[in-house]
Amino acid sequence: MSNESRVAIVTGAARGIGAATALRLARDGHAVAVVDLDEGSCEQTVKSITSAGGHAAAIGADVSDADAVNSAVERIADVLGPPAILVNNAGVTRDNLLFKMTEVDWDTVMGVHVRGSFLMAKAASAHMTAGKWGRIVNLSSTSALGNRGQANYSTAKAGLQGFTKTLAIELGKFNITVNAIAPGFIATEMTKATAERIGVSWADFQAGAAAQIPVARVGQPEDIANTVSFFVGEEAGYVSGQVIYVAGGPKA
Ligand SMILES: NC(=O)c1ccc[n+]([C@@H]2O[C@H](COP(=O)([O-])OP(=O)(O)OC[C@H]3O[C@@H](n4cnc5c(N)ncnc54)[C@H](O)[C@@H]3O)[C@@H](O)[C@H]2O)c1
Repeated sequence: MSNESRVAIVTGAARGIGAATALRLARDGHAVAVVDLDEGSCEQTVKSITSAGGHAAAIGADVSDADAVNSAVERIADVLGPPAILVNNAGVTRDNLLFKMTEVDWDTVMGVHVRGSFLMAKAASAHMTAGKWGRIVNLSSTSALGNRGQANYSTAKAGLQGFTKTLAIELGKFNITVNAIAPGFIATEMTKATAERIGVSWADFQAGAAAQIPVARVGQPEDIANTVSFFVGEEAGYVSGQVIYVAGGPKA
């Protein structure tokens, strides 16, 4: 079963896990819509794809904004073709202990992860059901199991696991699989910002994390991109509604 060339959407693909995933899916032969808040910030990822001979388009959209999502998905269908693969990767953190967490911290994180994945899945799945083939991958996190200072984020990431399982049930008959990846520590701007916020050097922060991880290293964006590539492949068609922890070991 070789992989057909499809149209893939990766949100939050200007950098980090999203950028690595966009590059990987392009290398797998798919045309990739590189979606992020600011269209200009997507250019570097698009350039890396096209200079390697791939096909990609930069699309600016805030995934928590319904109008922006609907027009972005329409534009993607016009420019690249109907999307058959969606990776809900866009994310933010607003960490704080419960007593210091504001309503804005809560709503922002829910808005991007939960509402954003819902809006994107709703818009993109209309094309997938019409084409009778689809793959949706949602980015959860080991924080779904609980993480101090992340009541908003862990709730959102646990919510995405329920969302994944329900969509798998609803969309299966259209030949659409829906799965989630729950990464552990991955070296990106997101984890770098956490190190800065708590006043630990980036090197020490990574070394401290690696010391707790069975494979004795932190994850790289490509570790997640490789797992996305598996889920969206033709041969993973009987794998649906699953959450795979990609964390260098069995627990967070
Ligand atoms: N880095 C980790 O250790 C880790 C661990 C578990 C899960 N994750 C998840 O993986 C995903 C990617 O994380 P990352 O580490 O690459 O983060 P990152 O901060 O490096 O990149 C996130 C991207 O999402 C974009 N984005 C944020 N809000 C958006 C919005 N409303 N609309 C569109 N784009 C938006 C940002 O502009 C940014 O380019 C996130 O969902 C994150 O929660 C990361």
